[in-house]
Amino acid sequence: KMIYYVTPTYPRPEQVPELMRLAYTLMHVPRLHWIVADDESVCSEPVLNILRRTGLPFTHISSPKPFIYKTSNFPRGVANRRAALEWIQKNVSDGILYFGDDDNAVDLQLFDEIRSTKKVSMFPVGLIGNYGVSTPIVKDGKVLGFFDSWPASRTFPVDMAGFAINIGFLKDSADMPFIAGHEEDKFLVSLDLDIEDIEPLAGNCTRILVWHTKTAKHKKSTLKVNINKLTSMDKYHNF
Ligand code: UGA
Ligand code: MN
Repeated sequence: KMIYYVTPTYPRPEQVPELMRLAYTLMHVPRLHWIVADDESVCSEPVLNILRRTGLPFTHISSPKPFIYKTSNFPRGVANRRAALEWIQKNVSDGILYFGDDDNAVDLQLFDEIRSTKKVSMFPVGLIGNYGVSTPIVKDGKVLGFFDSWPASRTFPVDMAGFAINIGFLKDSADMPFIAGHEEDKFLVSLDLDIEDIEPLAGNCTRILVWHTKTAKHKKSTLKVNINKLTSMDKYHNF
């Protein structure tokens, strides 16, 4: 089966290095189609250049966040993930869907494991919240509950990188709302997922194969240099 790896991304000084690093991971994965959903009004040139150089089959979608979400606590990467979801619903009938932020770190073994997802598979994600890990709790090969430092009355308190879906299991009702912190849960609920149907991976959720890494933000230089003249891609960055 083909894996459709969906990455929302947005312009910032860290974007190119993040995507390049992720690209070098994904280039090791057979039968992977990379869907990069750009939080921009047009598909950005630096992003497209990276995609072209991977040699991977890819789809580059432009889907900027609606103006009302240009606030501080906004749902991140939702308009673009929704656009990718719509593209998959229209164009793909068979395969595995996996959401991966542009700044995550992934062990290649995870791709081998998610490829055989029948409905929805789940696995631990490292470097999440106060507990340092977010994971399903598994007993005798069954998911009984979840260990996550921010349960927030969610039915499925998991990270976006903590589950994969068989595209055949996606319903027309599948939807990701613009509600910060509840994107994963509301999306999984919209699939009519039962806890009994969850397939635990990564050694019954005893191993961490994906991490919610975060890159320190570049600090603005106080030097009076016109940094916009440095490279052609800087017009995409808000220095
Ligand atoms: C965490 C989760 O890992 C995300 O999957 C989830 O969407 C997010 O929380 C949330 O619920 O708000 P976090 O590391 O805190 O992610 O956020 P970022 O990595 O900054 O953003 C998540 C993804 O959305 C990234 O791929 C990022 O490139 C993208 N994004 C972020 C946009 O497309 N537009 C933005 O304005 C900001
Ligand atoms: Mn992130």
